[in-house]
Amino acid sequence: MDFEQLKQRFDQAGQGHVFRYWDELPEIEKAGLLSQAAEIDLVELEGLLDGAETGDGGSVSDLEPAPYIALPDDLHGDLRWKAARERGEDLLRAGKVAAFTVAGGQGTRLGFDGPKGTFPVTPVKRKPLFRVFAEKIRAAERVYGTSIPWLIMTSHANHDATVAFLEKNGFFGLPAENVSFFRQGRMPAVTFDGKILLEAKSSIAMSPDGHGGSLRAMVRSGIFETLRSRGIEVISYFQVDNPLVRVIDPWFIGFHSAQGSEMSSRMIPKAHPDEKVGVFCTWNGRIDVVEYSDLPEKLARATDGQGRIRFNSGNIAVHLLETSLVERVAGSGETLPFHRAKKKVPHLDDAGERVSPSEPNAIKFEMFVFDAVRMAENPLILETGREDEFSPVKNATGEDSAETCLRDQLKQFARWMRAAGIDMPVDENGVPAIRIEISPLFARDEDSFREAWKKLPRKPEVRDGLYLE
Ligand code: UTP
Repeated sequence: MDFEQLKQRFDQAGQGHVFRYWDELPEIEKAGLLSQAAEIDLVELEGLLDGAETGDGGSVSDLEPAPYIALPDDLHGDLRWKAARERGEDLLRAGKVAAFTVAGGQGTRLGFDGPKGTFPVTPVKRKPLFRVFAEKIRAAERVYGTSIPWLIMTSHANHDATVAFLEKNGFFGLPAENVSFFRQGRMPAVTFDGKILLEAKSSIAMSPDGHGGSLRAMVRSGIFETLRSRGIEVISYFQVDNPLVRVIDPWFIGFHSAQGSEMSSRMIPKAHPDEKVGVFCTWNGRIDVVEYSDLPEKLARATDGQGRIRFNSGNIAVHLLETSLVERVAGSGETLPFHRAKKKVPHLDDAGERVSPSEPNAIKFEMFVFDAVRMAENPLILETGREDEFSPVKNATGEDSAETCLRDQLKQFARWMRAAGIDMPVDENGVPAIRIEISPLFARDEDSFREAWKKLPRKPEVRDGLYLE
């Protein structure tokens, strides 16, 4: 679309000010502004400004805790879990499953210079998050004799750096043709009265459209079509910040398939009523995720007859998406709702001066992937152990930081070693005194560790810096 056409559309939408400095811009910057402006769907934006299409502000009365499948006391003795595992393994062997990392976030809380997936996270080798996931995929490919495509969603800000990092590192041993990248969409930030903000004379203040944007970005990029043509049915979705995640989980895949679920989610029991995780609920007859900030305090604190948290089903953002759901939500008219957040957005004021506000001055729009749960047929929720699967790196220090994640990895490795009968002293929290690391290529869980250790012809000395691959 050329400048005149776009300008006319923006004028009609009351957003013509975006081109206020057009005449003074060098040609190259004009091209940049045009391409940004062309990305904006003005009809969609108008709908959002009218408040018609957002996922905010609904009433959260009549909530009930959502049903979930609890972890059995004896995972191996439980016939239902065994059957699920076998079913999941069959799907993996048949090449029906893809892995999908959403890595388009801005990672502001961590404050790391570079895409979050390049953050060094493991205790001994300091492997970046992307390497951990790549090794988990390779391990599953080896066990199931299959090929697992890996999709990585990036943002405009980190796309080139992400692709370059994986290329430079030879995709950590995965075939290049099995790793696909696509950029997520962006949304403009608007003032409280709905005007698009400029961050510079030639640039609109745009930001990623949320992890929920992944569904339509996958379709728009054409990658979804490729997945379909490869016969993929299940997409294993996880976030870039959680190295403990079971990237490929046969139990989860098996339960998902057996129930004919279009979207399945893993849950952990909430640690305490104030834990900042969304909660799976039943609402209007459908399963839904209620954000922690939207769950009324009375409900968050409610307990059952045995004193346990009643709304305890915490969302850890580990999902399985059936391709039929992605197609319906992203490929047709039905889309995920946008949520609004008030943010501080640096911008140009009316005089063309750059302002960095100290108070929220703008609205950003984001889609959340968990909103797809309520659109899914037969959604399923499966419990998992926090210590087995959830320790995200969100913050620079404190809760959910690199430090807590390191500790949780060490605890997991020590648990596996102790279960295999190895003498590994730990403190009262289960943290070993020495740094150890087990590659996913050596073992994926307690059972595979026990077997791999048994098979080692010469057992290595258990000392600080032990690395098993
Ligand atoms: P977070 O909610 O932790 O956000 O994202 P963030 O942007 O990474 O970090 P902060 O809030 O700025 O500190 C959870 C997951 O969703 C992805 C992130 O990359 C992470 O894997 N995400 C988030 C996207 O892919 N796109 C987005 O627009 C937002």
